Amino acid sequence: MDHSLPSQIRRELLDLQQRALIRCPETTDSAAGKTTVVNGRQIRVFCSNNYLDLANDPQVIAAVGDGLSRWGWGSGASRLISGSSTAHISLEQQLAQFKRCQAAVLFPTGYMANLGLLTALAGARDVLLIDKLCHASIIDAARASRATTRFFPHNDIKRLAELLSRYTHTRRICIITEGIFSMDGDFAHLTEIIPLKNKHQALLIVDDAHGTGVLGEHGRGTAELLDVEEHIDVTVATLSKAFGSLGGFVCCCAELAEYLRNRSRSYIYTTAAPPVVCLATAAALEIIQHQPQRRKNLHTVSKQLRHALRQAGFDIGSADAHIIPIILGRTELALQFSHLLWERGFMVPAIRQPSVPRGKARLRISLMSSHNSRDIDDLVQALVCVAGELGLLSTPSQA
Ligand SMILES: Cc1ncc(COP(=O)(O)O)c(C=O)c1O
Repeated sequence: MDHSLPSQIRRELLDLQQRALIRCPETTDSAAGKTTVVNGRQIRVFCSNNYLDLANDPQVIAAVGDGLSRWGWGSGASRLISGSSTAHISLEQQLAQFKRCQAAVLFPTGYMANLGLLTALAGARDVLLIDKLCHASIIDAARASRATTRFFPHNDIKRLAELLSRYTHTRRICIITEGIFSMDGDFAHLTEIIPLKNKHQALLIVDDAHGTGVLGEHGRGTAELLDVEEHIDVTVATLSKAFGSLGGFVCCCAELAEYLRNRSRSYIYTTAAPPVVCLATAAALEIIQHQPQRRKNLHTVSKQLRHALRQAGFDIGSADAHIIPIILGRTELALQFSHLLWERGFMVPAIRQPSVPRGKARLRISLMSSHNSRDIDDLVQALVCVAGELGLLSTPSQA
């Protein structure tokens, strides 16, 4: 057998291919919006995390244009060297005010925010209890932290209670969950978790990557929606979804923020985001705070789609917001479904393991505030047609 690196890798790629796990994303050729262009063809996008359509907003673009002439592009160094500009500091203050917490610490990405937080906060003497459906960045961060890590089944409060009772002699015990789950569109059962965390003096960390900006009357996220904001010890959020920008941030008490700036390796040992990224994000934050209509539109079309899909007989699990999975099971089926939608001009990718558990392959639909009722009708019609072609829906649909 040939043991050269290219041959070894070719075999591994072949293995992925045989298990239908190889990824070949389409190459888009236009700004992020509810349509895109691929190979000269206009495609309707139902899979973007640009939930409030801010990635290409004129106010955001103007902020970048103005900022470039003052700041140029690169930041030049890590935040701890010479990369901490007034643009970074001011955005952190605005984010802390928005999220009603003492401090916010910016990271270049949401992935790095989780990594930096958990590796700084937890070590070999600590325990992390993580919802099994949490994002890869949380799982990778837990592994890197060397803390004892246990996963509880998704939203299984009884199992979480058992785990909390088991680990009583640790330095620190943290419960980690997402606010709204990225692949299922359902919420963490925060109102049930909070009494448990109080009883066991655990820290509650919520990654609200997909809720921040979108959920709650003011867009502060899942905790605002569920009216539990003051009970969350630490929130992680990303700027790459509803904000349409790039970056992540941790919201916490002033002491933890100071500690993270000194101990988070993904904050210290990496170059700061360009200052204009902060200006774009600040412009997006302004819109999030002053244009609630965007959230309202998003909730209206999300409700319309969830209702239509359930009526048509699709399995969308407990989806309750703007992320709506169609759970299909087999990887090949999800790929085929996605391909047939693509042929009709709809971009709805198949999500497979390891992003979701084996046997739970799905289409993940995510909506944007700029989608309208007509967009939803068209999507549902396409979904029903394709499901019919694949012999999937037993109940004839009126959709
Ligand atoms: C729940 C969750 N946390 C963190 C991240 C990482 O955020 P970013 O894309 O900003 O790195 C994601 C991204 O998909 C996510 O879904």
